[in-house]
Amino acid sequence: TFPKRVKIVEVGPRDGLQNEKSIIPTPMKIKLIDMLSEAGLPVIEATSFVSPKWVPQMADHAEVMKGIQKFPGISYPVLTPNFKGFQAAVAAGAKEVAVFGAASELFSKKNINCSIDESVQRFDEILKAARAASIPVRGYVSCVLGCPYEGKISPAKVAEVAKKMYSVGCYEISLGDTIGVGTPGTMKDMLSAVMHEVPVAALAVHCHDTYGQALANTLMALQMGVSVVDSSVAGLGGCPYAHGASGNLATEDLVYMLAGLGVHTGVNLQKLLEAGAFICQALNRRTSSKVAQATCKL
Ligand code: HMG
Ligand code: MG
Repeated sequence: TFPKRVKIVEVGPRDGLQNEKSIIPTPMKIKLIDMLSEAGLPVIEATSFVSPKWVPQMADHAEVMKGIQKFPGISYPVLTPNFKGFQAAVAAGAKEVAVFGAASELFSKKNINCSIDESVQRFDEILKAARAASIPVRGYVSCVLGCPYEGKISPAKVAEVAKKMYSVGCYEISLGDTIGVGTPGTMKDMLSAVMHEVPVAALAVHCHDTYGQALANTLMALQMGVSVVDSSVAGLGGCPYAHGASGNLATEDLVYMLAGLGVHTGVNLQKLLEAGAFICQALNRRTSSKVAQATCKL
């Protein structure tokens, strides 16, 4: 059985655009986010308040936050790696943030320049301030099905880190297959371990599609009771600190599958396709969404 409704967390403007080689003009980012809002996505991750030395693609975070139309009922969370990022995000008007850790020590070091334990301490500091300001905090765990530096990651390690992030107060834990190496089998084993530590209602999956497994892995998670799924318009995505990582599960493909299953998402596929076509044209790239390719009128 599947959940009756699925909340889609659109990560294209952040996960997608952080990974493009060229710096995308701010108005283009704003237009993409506005089009995604028009398409009815309930959550749109807008940008990240990370160091511009580390990720120059997100340096215009404050301008993006100021420029986007904030639709009622839609949330526009942003990534915050540390307290400095959290303060800047709040100053720019963010009403929700996300912290991001990893189940792999080496990846944590490469991506946020600290150990897993240090990262949880940083997140705790953010969570205390966020609670005082009534700002919900989402937590990511990367490398849940494999790491570009350490290889295999045990389900027990993922469960341990997910539990820590949940205990410091993240309301939702998004489990990231950062380099897209998982299969439905490894997804099942990992989720079974995590579900012992964190209630399934507080879990999300975030699948990259490097090996073409993202939709299948997501379906497995849905069957296991997960009802929050991250995806990216046109299948944009990747992480600058995970070489070989390709795009996320395409939102168009997810919406098409869920519609076929009779699962409610509230997303208008036609408008979503238009947003995907817009950004692909702007980036001069081909869409990675199979649904967009199939329905393209050219
Ligand atoms: P650091 O170098 O250890 O930081 O980086 P620091 O505290 O020593 O500061 C160094 C400099 O950066 C200082 O500036 C700080 O002011 C500045 P300087 O004195 O040299 O001029 N700085 C900042 N500037 C702006 N905003 C900030 C900030 N913090 C420090 N927030 C840090 C540590 C965490 C900052 C860095 O490693 C970083 O920014 N990492 C982010 C990497 C990233 O964005 N990765 C991609 C997102 S994660 C992802 O894609 C995975 C996900 O999709 C899930 C999945 O797929 O698995 C979420
Ligand atoms: Mg990602």
